[in-house]
Amino acid sequence: MTVLVTYATHSGATATLAETLADTLRREGLEVELVDVAEAPDPAAADAVVLGSGVRVESVEKSARAWARTHHAVLAAKPFVFFSCSGSASDPAKQGRQKATDAFLAETALEPVAVKNLPGWVLMDRIPVHERVLLTSLRTPVGDFRDLPAVEAWAREIAPLLRS
Ligand SMILES: Cc1cc2nc3c(=O)[nH]c(=O)nc-3n(C[C@H](O)[C@H](O)[C@H](O)COP(=O)(O)O)c2cc1C
Repeated sequence: MTVLVTYATHSGATATLAETLADTLRREGLEVELVDVAEAPDPAAADAVVLGSGVRVESVEKSARAWARTHHAVLAAKPFVFFSCSGSASDPAKQGRQKATDAFLAETALEPVAVKNLPGWVLMDRIPVHERVLLTSLRTPVGDFRDLPAVEAWAREIAPLLRS
């Protein structure tokens, strides 16, 4: 039973969530391969797949969208889980919703066995200068909003779904 955990990131937060998820799934007894989507992993050999992506300007990363399109038939045929990593997921007013995720699922027509919108970080020293200006103008809250124990708890929840 091998699970491919792959992720698309710009400033690194999604990678840390994917690492936490992968470590917890391993502790749950699953064999996990953790690969940046930029390395174009082939999901064909995996029994189940987790895809995570950072959110930029209300969109899932282009690389994640392209990878999901390329491997659509394979992903549709096995347990597939999706998570986003964003600044706004830390806002309780969003009630766990994320426009980028909804758009991604509508566009790909994939039906994941589980979906989660997780908070990431907005750390100015990890963001190119021109984007810092944009984020400052949008008054985006700055900080590390990750909740790694919650990511571990979610990983324990999805482990049986990935096995099914
Ligand atoms: C240029 C830019 C645009 C962003 N747009 C959004 C957005 O539309 N909605 C949101 O919730 N977070 C937004 N964020 C915050 C990111 O989702 C957050 O930093 C997340 O941790 C990014 O994941 P990454 O670190 O893996 O790249 C944006 C960040 C940047 C730098």
